[in-house]
Amino acid sequence: MKLWAGRFSKEIDPKTNDFNSSIPFDSRLFSEDIKGSIAHATMLGAAGIISKQDADTICDGLQGILADLQSGKLLIDPNVEDIHTFVEGELTQRIGLAGKRLHTARSRNDQVALDIRLYLKVQCDALCGQLRQLVEVLCRHALSYADAVMPGYTHLQRAQPITFGHHLLAYAEMFLRDIGRLCDAKARMDELPLGAGALAGTTYPLDRQMTADLLGFARVTNNSLDSVADRDFCVEIAAAISLAMVHLSRFSEEIILWCSWEFKFVELDDAFSTGSSIMPQKKNPDIAELVRGKSGRVFGDLMALLTMLKGLPLAYNKDMQEDKEAVFDAVDTLRLCLTAFIPMVETMKPIPENMRKAAAKGFINATDCADYLVNKGLAFRDAYKITGSLVALCIRSGHTLESLPLEDYQQVCDVFDDAVYDAISLERCVNGRNVHGAPAPENVRAQAKRILDSLSGKECMSHD
Ligand code: ARG
Repeated sequence: MKLWAGRFSKEIDPKTNDFNSSIPFDSRLFSEDIKGSIAHATMLGAAGIISKQDADTICDGLQGILADLQSGKLLIDPNVEDIHTFVEGELTQRIGLAGKRLHTARSRNDQVALDIRLYLKVQCDALCGQLRQLVEVLCRHALSYADAVMPGYTHLQRAQPITFGHHLLAYAEMFLRDIGRLCDAKARMDELPLGAGALAGTTYPLDRQMTADLLGFARVTNNSLDSVADRDFCVEIAAAISLAMVHLSRFSEEIILWCSWEFKFVELDDAFSTGSSIMPQKKNPDIAELVRGKSGRVFGDLMALLTMLKGLPLAYNKDMQEDKEAVFDAVDTLRLCLTAFIPMVETMKPIPENMRKAAAKGFINATDCADYLVNKGLAFRDAYKITGSLVALCIRSGHTLESLPLEDYQQVCDVFDDAVYDAISLERCVNGRNVHGAPAPENVRAQAKRILDSLSGKECMSHD
């Protein structure tokens, strides 16, 4: 029997019931739904809207349902319309008349808005926790490989020398921003919508602040229409998650490149690699590829949410039931990806010798050679041109800038002396890049330590 049975003379068509139902995906909200109802009933009792005794009976009944669902003793009926209907129906079956009083001064519209907020607040914390773990792993690697010189790239061409630690800390910065965005989204949605009713509030003397306090919300919402029509927070979270997926995907792409034979900058642990069914020599970075691949579905979730909302008149419309699968999928996907990605990164073995070898080729110290000439008094544009012809000379003669004889240098420009070899040594080039934010090993170590310090103990950390 439907909640709205009084108005109708027929049961809903069974296939349409399936179409209309959200139970296949909103049943995961059972504990939020029950906790929300306990707070609502407690407030109704305290405000004298229902009797204290009914409130107690309702709360006990709901606690019993929660315990039975958690233990698996009670199974959710797949034929009900949604989780709210299921809990209320079960409660009324268990406690009778008092159960029917629970929905006083409440609509499923403000109830569902409450449930998703409660759920997503917890998920934001969980995702931030995982992202913090990842940042910690990156900082620990950065400390170990602060001196490992590797080529930095632009256009995937060797460009200037950096260190592996510096490269990893670039990702740490991205994931810190992701944490910041999730925290911002959480703080903005930390408002109790309950009390908005279906759309226009209620005539009962509710104590909304009390319900907010019971449920740990920072504030109550200020407009009943917006309270039930707002899903901005789903979009914000899906957007924050999408960016985190962009970062994971870029990182995955680099890991995939790095463990190719062409690079061999890292070796993935066997436990986080897969083999081929036909090629015995293969060790594939499937985890990184899957993470890269899964970013697409999360962007799809974000688009689905934006598109679902864009034409909706105020206030609640059933279209909004589509919010859940999208935002749940975004949350689940990021969580799953991080669960595999973090230990993969933690156990990967960097190979500094290969990075160093790659850095020795490709003339990544050419800028430093030009800077050397600038220090000798030449204008940068002239220094740039001279260095360009030196590189061409090296390519013709099979040299690197390090191995090119001094006579050759001097033939191109007579200000060169022996000190050029020191000026273009890779270690020197890296050590010299010590302005704040640059890859000098001392910088990398200091920044990794600062991040590790800032991570310890902060529940929701913005990027500062
Ligand atoms: N299952 C619905 C949803 O997820 C709950 C709210 C239903 N409200 C309504 N008036 N039909 O959005």
